[in-house]
Amino acid sequence: MQYTTTSAGVEMPKIIYGTAWKKERTTELVIQAVQAGFRGIDTACQPKHYAEERVGEALMPLKKEGFKREDLYIQTKFTPLAGQDPNNIPYDKNASLETQVADSFTRSKKNLQTDYVDTLLLHSPLFPHANLLSVYRAMEKIQQDGGALQLGISNCYDLGVLKRLYEDVQIKPAVVQNRFYPDSDFDKELRAWCDAHAVIYQSFWSLTANPYILASEVVVNLAKEYNKTQAQIFFNFLSLEGIVPLSGTTSQTHMRQDLDIFSFELSLSQRSEIRALLV
Ligand SMILES: NC(=O)c1ccc[n+]([C@@H]2O[C@H](COP(=O)([O-])OP(=O)(O)OC[C@H]3O[C@@H](n4cnc5c(N)ncnc54)[C@H](OP(=O)(O)O)[C@@H]3O)[C@@H](O)[C@H]2O)c1
Repeated sequence: MQYTTTSAGVEMPKIIYGTAWKKERTTELVIQAVQAGFRGIDTACQPKHYAEERVGEALMPLKKEGFKREDLYIQTKFTPLAGQDPNNIPYDKNASLETQVADSFTRSKKNLQTDYVDTLLLHSPLFPHANLLSVYRAMEKIQQDGGALQLGISNCYDLGVLKRLYEDVQIKPAVVQNRFYPDSDFDKELRAWCDAHAVIYQSFWSLTANPYILASEVVVNLAKEYNKTQAQIFFNFLSLEGIVPLSGTTSQTHMRQDLDIFSFELSLSQRSEIRALLV
């Protein structure tokens, strides 16, 4: 695995295994992913989409195989009420925002059987700004108490929101995790800002949202030239652009292919050709 060092000094794997929608298969797939070579795991305290406790259940057998907690990069999320299933909210919905964050994180630590996470992400911005700040400040307290090595935000497509948050908080977000798709113009402006402020941009939907890029002549020809799959070409491109992609593959073949994206390097002109497809 290759790593990138974040502004908070955290070693983040350059591709991260995503655990959404895996339900009862979560434990088995996380074990397979780590055995295959993934070292980063993404989850959330959001029972609607993630079985966070099953990620935790994978850690014990992995420990027996010799994978220590510090060998793994684990990131979870605080999901605001709007993103939760109303019938399965992992905290008291009537509590203050600060208490919701604290209780959600206590639940995450129990689920993950760990006393710290590498990154705690806010799953999506809250409005108005005062609510966003209340939640983020509660996350800062978790970071200051040693519960999270760094903080970040997800689904933040409005650069104005990100900039204002960045200016108003003490512990700057080190990570933005966004959907990589045409509707947001692939976050071009936001990613340039992230680069300038040493904020790592993680992408999801990287393959599913972009079938026309994967099927493009440029990518198909590069796949032939490098003897790689189209998905590998695109992941390699993303990585060279400084993006950390998430992969939630359920296939062991795809796990191996996802991990093999660091075995080659597209040239500058080839990267420009793919960049031109981001329209
Ligand atoms: N912050 C958020 O709101 C948010 C939202 C969505 C997702 N996420 C995170 O991002 C993770 C990834 O989610 P995603 O939406 O990007 O989709 P994904 O779960 O990674 O699925 C993408 C599709 O790509 C396929 N795939 C993966 N690797 C491949 C490869 N090398 N070659 C060909 N196909 C491949 C998978 O099929 P196979 O299973 O057959 O390989 C799957 O159909 C999630 O698990 C979650 O952790 C976060």
